[in-house]
Amino acid sequence: MSHSPKPVKKVPLHLQSAQNRVYIKNGQVVNDDGMFKADVYIEDGIIKFVGPASEINVPGGVRVIDATGRLIIPGGIDPHTHFQFEFGGAVSVDDFYHGTRAAVAGGTTTIIDFVMPNKGESLIDAYHKWRSWADPKVCCDYALHVGVTWWSKLVSDEMKILCQELGINSYKMFMAYKGLYQLNDSDMLDSLERIRELGALAQVHAENGDIIAKNAGKLLNAGVTGPEGHEMSRQEEVEAEAVHRACILAHQVDCPLYVVHVMGKSAGIELARARRRYNNRGIYGETLAAALGTDGTHCHNNCFHHAAAHILSPPLRSDPTTPEFMMRLLANDGLQTTGSDNCTFNKEHKELGKGNFTKIPNGVNGVEDRMSVVWEKGVHAGILDPCRFVAVTSTNAAKLFNLYPQKGRIAAGSDADIVVWNPNVTRTISKDTHHHNCDFNIFEGMVCHGVPEIVLVRGRVCVEDGNVRVAEGFGRFLSTPVRTPYIYDVLEGKVPAEQSNGDGKAAGGVNGGVKSLNF
Ligand code: URP
Ligand code: ZN
Ligand code: ZN
Ligand code: ZN
Repeated sequence: MSHSPKPVKKVPLHLQSAQNRVYIKNGQVVNDDGMFKADVYIEDGIIKFVGPASEINVPGGVRVIDATGRLIIPGGIDPHTHFQFEFGGAVSVDDFYHGTRAAVAGGTTTIIDFVMPNKGESLIDAYHKWRSWADPKVCCDYALHVGVTWWSKLVSDEMKILCQELGINSYKMFMAYKGLYQLNDSDMLDSLERIRELGALAQVHAENGDIIAKNAGKLLNAGVTGPEGHEMSRQEEVEAEAVHRACILAHQVDCPLYVVHVMGKSAGIELARARRRYNNRGIYGETLAAALGTDGTHCHNNCFHHAAAHILSPPLRSDPTTPEFMMRLLANDGLQTTGSDNCTFNKEHKELGKGNFTKIPNGVNGVEDRMSVVWEKGVHAGILDPCRFVAVTSTNAAKLFNLYPQKGRIAAGSDADIVVWNPNVTRTISKDTHHHNCDFNIFEGMVCHGVPEIVLVRGRVCVEDGNVRVAEGFGRFLSTPVRTPYIYDVLEGKVPAEQSNGDGKAAGGVNGGVKSLNF
């Protein structure tokens, strides 16, 4: 895939201080819809020019980065994190500082976290709580999703205020975590209807919580108390059933749906089938770095700490063919995005579930290594091309959550969230060198081709020469407007799905047709 950038007129550059001016030369720019050789000039955090060196006069005193042999890619967007999240009797150890610092170290320059109201709590109060935790600490820009963890008229009214005044355009509903966050189908339908009315995007955690609760009780009674009981209580079909049901519930009220953390092959197939059934209108799916880079066999490890460190929901699947299958779904547009679901707990927290697997705090790392894992298992393995890599790690999330083209693109006018990516060197992932605040890394020992050598966050060089120099509080809250055109123009029939990328090209977009998979 290759196309030339539009001709641009010569940009006059004036001599000014170097800090806010960066010139990246000799690199290969990669966007979701094409790659081409170009120089990139940045001023005050914004990309001002992308094009051939002959069309720009570079003044002295500008910080120059030579990207020969490197790719210049949009900073990653991780649409799924839980920083500083109180869950399962513990608080996740990556807070908004450590979490966003780890993100930037790995080439991710925007994260979207989840506001998780307690049952009965005002969604708006919870939103302000999350803002007060995040705003002073974030090292990169961030947005928020809000959990609809209970249902009432107050919730419905608050959703309108969140959308219209507080920058929220997506809501997550839970079909699992019975007694905590789980909604029944009737409440799900009401919330989906409300989300459609508001022009927002529905997200679901798709697992059948009633089946899980029953199975977990039986397993514990039978003496299965260790981490291996986690996946046994929630097999693949328990996830696949919920994906199928969620797609139908959403379709019934014509609400766009984004299924978060699709972990099993059969769940992925249900999602891809729904996309095909509804002509690529309004169904989107995310998988996780964890699902692509490791598998559920680790949950059977004799060491409790090792096994418990791999527990999240839906679970990593023990079928070792899962990671490659999920990558192929990403390649074929059966799935659109990769998140991390970064929700890290240390040994002492995981030990809360010693003797009862249902009490192991759920969550794994991923915000730092997501880009490298997707490159290694996707591009290096020959399954994704670099454009699709950019689509599934950045651009598609920007389009679905209405951050595009401010985020997710290397183009004049976009934020200078940029990674200079070296595909020809390797790094080995380890808890001893990662930037997380946690004591375990589920990708330990993985050798990854593809290293984010230089990372710019809104024009600020935050990673270079292996050093991470972020500024706490430098990140900004991104207000996400409702009615993202990449979803709503298609839903309302204004644009056919195959032309929904604005340039008439479906390739790399969020509404492409699912290609050749045998199901
Ligand atoms: O196990 C997980 N995924 N923990 C975070 C909460 C969620 O369901 O996303
Ligand atoms: Zn979830
Ligand atoms: Zn161990
Ligand atoms: Zn999550």
